[in-house]
Amino acid sequence: MYKLRKFYPPGFDPQQYWEDRYAQEHIAGRSSDEFRKQGFWPLMERHLPRDKKVLDAGCGVGGWIVFLKEEGYDIEGIDNAARMVRAMTEYDPDLKVKIAAIDAIPYPNNCFGGVVAVGTLEYVEDKVDEALREVNRVLMPNGIFFLEVPIINGLRRFFYIPLKDLERWLKGKNNRPVFANYFFGRQELRRKLDEAGFTVITEQPHELPDDHSHYGLYVDWKWLRGSQPYRLNIVGLAIKKLANIVSPWIASTGMVIVAKKR
Ligand SMILES: C[S@@+](CC[C@H](N)C(=O)[O-])C[C@H]1O[C@@H](n2cnc3c(N)ncnc32)[C@H](O)[C@@H]1O
Repeated sequence: MYKLRKFYPPGFDPQQYWEDRYAQEHIAGRSSDEFRKQGFWPLMERHLPRDKKVLDAGCGVGGWIVFLKEEGYDIEGIDNAARMVRAMTEYDPDLKVKIAAIDAIPYPNNCFGGVVAVGTLEYVEDKVDEALREVNRVLMPNGIFFLEVPIINGLRRFFYIPLKDLERWLKGKNNRPVFANYFFGRQELRRKLDEAGFTVITEQPHELPDDHSHYGLYVDWKWLRGSQPYRLNIVGLAIKKLANIVSPWIASTGMVIVAKKR
């Protein structure tokens, strides 16, 4: 796991920033098409049980909860950011959401048929193993864990991470970097899942579905950014194309894993 740390301006609180930003992206405005066109929706639909309760751990403003509820899933959610949870219950008081952390899930053992954690585990600083054990605890035997996390892809391993380490060495004497998120090694995450009591069923690289966009390249490299969020400029599009010819694992920002509780 690589612990990405960033140098934020003085007084900047990243946790507060993300809470404010996500809470503004009110779920009422988001259409179910946005979720249906995600590259991993077919995989989620194939594996997530519709006849048992499902938990969205780190549900954010609840886009997946609303979408999966529309799709007929019996879904509940937790998030450790109170504002997100409030935004959801204001939108629909019937949504079942709680303020809670993924490493201390307030539910009994073996009570869910599935747990979804899309873009959550990378923010759980120093408690990833606890979080995996907690997810395992609340799942029924053979229950499905569907997760998406950012990975140490080829470009990150050989370019982005060494540059970040150099930046930390140069700037770190006078400033303190703040934890931003983890990048996970593919083999390492599989091992952690195994140790927590899961068997991996399948995995796939994860990126934005749109041809002109790329989450990883856009976020990691400012000089590849186009004029709209997540859209690449012409150099970025060429890099994306070249990388994908070799392998989608070279540039994809994340990976999706479907695992089963043993
Ligand atoms: C990038 S957002 C993803 C939200 C949602 N899963 C989605 O796909 O739209 C990450 C979410 O994880 C939540 N989070 C971070 N650490 C957490 C933790 N330890 N326990 C529960 N939620 C956490 C954040 O508050 C945030 O809402």
